[in-house]
Amino acid sequence: MSLDLKSLVRTIPDYPKKGILFRDITTLIEHPEGFKESVERIAALYRGQGITHVAGIEARGFIFGAGVAIALGAGFVPVRKKGKLPGETIGQNYALEYGVDTIEIHADVVDSRHKVLLVDDLIATGGTAIAAIGLLRRTGATCDDAAFVIDLPDIGGAAKLGAESVKVTALMA
Ligand code: PRP
Ligand code: ADE
Repeated sequence: MSLDLKSLVRTIPDYPKKGILFRDITTLIEHPEGFKESVERIAALYRGQGITHVAGIEARGFIFGAGVAIALGAGFVPVRKKGKLPGETIGQNYALEYGVDTIEIHADVVDSRHKVLLVDDLIATGGTAIAAIGLLRRTGATCDDAAFVIDLPDIGGAAKLGAESVKVTALMA
């Protein structure tokens, strides 16, 4: 029988703010088969599609995105929080379910020759992913695919990405 990945994700109420049901992926990634299978299942959806780079969003997106990049034989693009990248950057502000933040990529990391898959652990409002896709597209790269371990469909982020012509997959809701 295949592994029930959803049962490995823990939900913690009222973190980091009252009213937020926090989906904690640390319990998934500390499980050796659970972690491997999460990465493999995402990679399997994109094999043979010409993905040249996987972009992962700091911090939890690095965990899954790096694994997916290795599994696909693609490069890895770190989408970092403001002020962490040493070269010339482009940045974008965005609103979170519980705050505001800015993400950045190196301005020259990808260009019009590249096809980028965005990977993150979770999509809630979609604000982070839309900001990341906007940044990646500003370089001229194609970024029409985004993969998440967890989608919170009631919050509506995946539908917002769809409206930006991004095809979204998730391993669980
Ligand atoms: C979380 C999560 C996603 C984002 C999803 O990251 O890992 O990146 O929020 O929310 P959204 O769809 O409403 O934009 P967070 O900013 O908490 O950072 P972390 O990965 O460093 O914990
Ligand atoms: N990022 C945004 N919303 C979240 C949630 N409910 N659980 C975990 N990470 C999140």
